[in-house]
Amino acid sequence: MNVPTKNQPPLENTLIHPVSMNVEHLRADFPILKHSIHGKPMVYLDNAASSQMPQQVIDRLTHYQAHEHANIHRGVHTLSQNATIEYENARLKVMNFIGAKEAREIIFTRGTTEGINLVMHGYGRRFIGEGDEIIISAMEHHSNIVPWQMLCEEKKARLRIIPMNDAGELLLDEYAKLFNKNTKFVALTHVSNALGTINPVRGMIATAHQHGVPVLLDGAQAAPHIAVNIQDLDCDFYAFSSHKMCGPTGVGILYGKTPLLEKMQPYQGGGDMILNVTFERTTYNDIPHKFEAGTPAIAAGIGLGAAIDYLTAIGLDNIAAYEHALLEYATQAARNIPGLKIIGTAQHKAAVLSFILDGIHPHDIGTLLDQEGIAVRAGHHCAQPVMQRFGIPATARASFAFYNTFAEVDALIAGIHSVKKVFA
Ligand code: ALA
Repeated sequence: MNVPTKNQPPLENTLIHPVSMNVEHLRADFPILKHSIHGKPMVYLDNAASSQMPQQVIDRLTHYQAHEHANIHRGVHTLSQNATIEYENARLKVMNFIGAKEAREIIFTRGTTEGINLVMHGYGRRFIGEGDEIIISAMEHHSNIVPWQMLCEEKKARLRIIPMNDAGELLLDEYAKLFNKNTKFVALTHVSNALGTINPVRGMIATAHQHGVPVLLDGAQAAPHIAVNIQDLDCDFYAFSSHKMCGPTGVGILYGKTPLLEKMQPYQGGGDMILNVTFERTTYNDIPHKFEAGTPAIAAGIGLGAAIDYLTAIGLDNIAAYEHALLEYATQAARNIPGLKIIGTAQHKAAVLSFILDGIHPHDIGTLLDQEGIAVRAGHHCAQPVMQRFGIPATARASFAFYNTFAEVDALIAGIHSVKKVFA
């Protein structure tokens, strides 16, 4: 456990098993966390945008590039066959990580955005038509709004929005009322990137299924922070990204139930996604390869496998409990700062602290905190409708990972006080 600071809650209140969650020990795995920014120790609190990579993942990537690289699925030679085995092993790790039934339900993509677009093209364009309705929520990231808007425009379908309350919690009664005979799809974020809200997705999926409607979850902010079991949730599609879960950029995952994936059309055509091609006709490969045209990000996929090993060894329940303790601690301290308003006060939250300060633009907060070595994100967080809902242009957002410490929360709070002094 990290060195206690003066305001740190006692260990017994944090639910953390001290052996399974030794944060100082874990921090030593992350070379970047030793950096200074503007002469100050770096405090990295922009994990919702992108997390950092431990040495174990960096080593796996480097070893692959230096000693194992070849194209996959194509070669009869040893290097290619071994690279294929490693890449497909990463798929198995993802399958186990989210509790999927079969490896063919796991499609490698470039990231969450591509996963959602794949479903929009492959499922939406085939099964959603004029007059049909798609339900999304008021707290979606642009990547779970814009593809559905594009589909609605093309097909003359209609987007319906689940509203939320002032705490940033979806109104479930209103959600239930949105269903009618035209409802064809629900696309919903599991955890809000801008507010931190953990949505009650299990029940919401059950509601959709009562109407025979499939559900896609945007799991980008959930998969790195809480244990996800696809079969328990019973969702039809689940999209998430490697770079938010200690893996490299350039790779993500789309999970889909086999019967749905099988009846979808491919999103992109090219090599690897075909069984046979003539000028008259092409037959497609089996899933998941049908959706994986072209040479993928092989190194990144293998690196993601190493990241999953790393997170699994810590345990997602340990991660969730520790990050929750960090959030509680930060929230209490932030509430004591005059003029600070937290945006997103849901009862169930992941470790995201979005806030505004009276009379100070969030970009100024972000810039001044950076001078103190503290990295937060400032802006609309690719969720402009969330900002519109709260009547603000932007927030400053601190987002925590398991390698952050209570001392870093103290640094953030001290940094916010310094920002206020500049504008006093
Ligand atoms: N979606 C990422 C974020 O919330 C980039 O910062």
